[in-house]
Amino acid sequence: MTRKDFLAALGAGAVTPQMLKSSPESKPASGGSPPVLKLSELCSLDDVEAQARSVMLSSVYDYVSAGAADELTTRWNREKYRELRLQAEVLTNVSQLDCTTTLLGQRMKMPILLAPTSNHRLVHPEGELATARGAGLAEATMVLSNGANTSVEDVLRVATQPVWFQLYVDPDRGLARELVQRVEAAGAKALCVTVDAPIDGARNRPDRNPVVIPPGVGYPNYLSKADLVALQSLEGVHPPLLEWRDIEWIRSLTKLPVLLKGIMNPRDADTAVKLGIDGIMVSNHGGRCLDTQPATIEVLPRVVAQVNGRVPVIVDGGIRRGTDVVKAIALGASAVQIGRPCIYGLAVGGAEGVAYVLQLLRQELLMAMALLGRSTLAQIDRSVIWH
Ligand code: FNR
Repeated sequence: MTRKDFLAALGAGAVTPQMLKSSPESKPASGGSPPVLKLSELCSLDDVEAQARSVMLSSVYDYVSAGAADELTTRWNREKYRELRLQAEVLTNVSQLDCTTTLLGQRMKMPILLAPTSNHRLVHPEGELATARGAGLAEATMVLSNGANTSVEDVLRVATQPVWFQLYVDPDRGLARELVQRVEAAGAKALCVTVDAPIDGARNRPDRNPVVIPPGVGYPNYLSKADLVALQSLEGVHPPLLEWRDIEWIRSLTKLPVLLKGIMNPRDADTAVKLGIDGIMVSNHGGRCLDTQPATIEVLPRVVAQVNGRVPVIVDGGIRRGTDVVKAIALGASAVQIGRPCIYGLAVGGAEGVAYVLQLLRQELLMAMALLGRSTLAQIDRSVIWH
């Protein structure tokens, strides 16, 4: 079975460990790698990034890959997964692997969502429409960014899987209310309010190599210009005011489940749950806001302990391997999100590239489960982490 057939089979449904055994696929006879590799030749999410880097404008690659300041948090997000070691159990029955889950009442084929990321038209002419199609092909849930270049209505028109919407609360509360109503009317299934980015962090790398937004690329989900004002001068820092009482107000506006994205403090998680928030996203914005915050996988167990099962906890930041997903689940996450890898998949292969990234990560997750001796997500607990 070729890798391509395998990924098609993954799309079709049941997976057995036999199918997970790698199969040789013919390589070019000589001359090294061709300049542009086929998706099926990209073996890991890092391969997809390397390929994307070779086709993206350097300014766009810097914009996507960068973290804030010295990019330490971005680096730690990945490194801390690598420091965790796994402990397998052998001779358990793993003949039927199942990584499906239910989140906020929604059945999911995998515990992996597309994190909200802005500006998809910088890497692909169809932008978020292609991303939504890719999520559909992989049967994954996409969280659409408030900073998308495509309207929530247009994305919902092409989506075949549930779409959640990520909200930056407009300083003009009338406009914020209007957007929430629009999102609900369009058919989004949940609202994720991002709370960790009242302003961007010090993005030195993109500042040195700025992106030029091409003509015609806009922000149809922003209703006011105020949101688009970038911090371009050193004159003053005036983040828009967002407080807990605004969260209560947002909660009161909609019947949709409301999650808070960007929680890195167990106390904040507790406050959120007490206010009736339906889910917590442990995230440091991929290290793009406050540099030297800890890695999200370090913070996750503390937030999970504080939340104590009251609502689901989702984590993002640095997840690039199926074993990373396993570790997040083991430490109490209900699901994970991936940000940059989906953009790289989009840059490399449009909708198919996005689907490929998701399917590859799901495939690695299933492999890790088989090798750990766990056939369902419910069986993945702290005992898989080696101490
Ligand atoms: C983001 N992220 C983000 N988050 C958010 O709430 N709203 C947004 O509009 C964006 N935009 C955005 C753009 C780009 C280019 C990146 C890389 C990230 C953060 C994102 O949702 C997520 O938290 C991180 O990307 C997760 O880390 P990884 O998977 O990229 O390591």
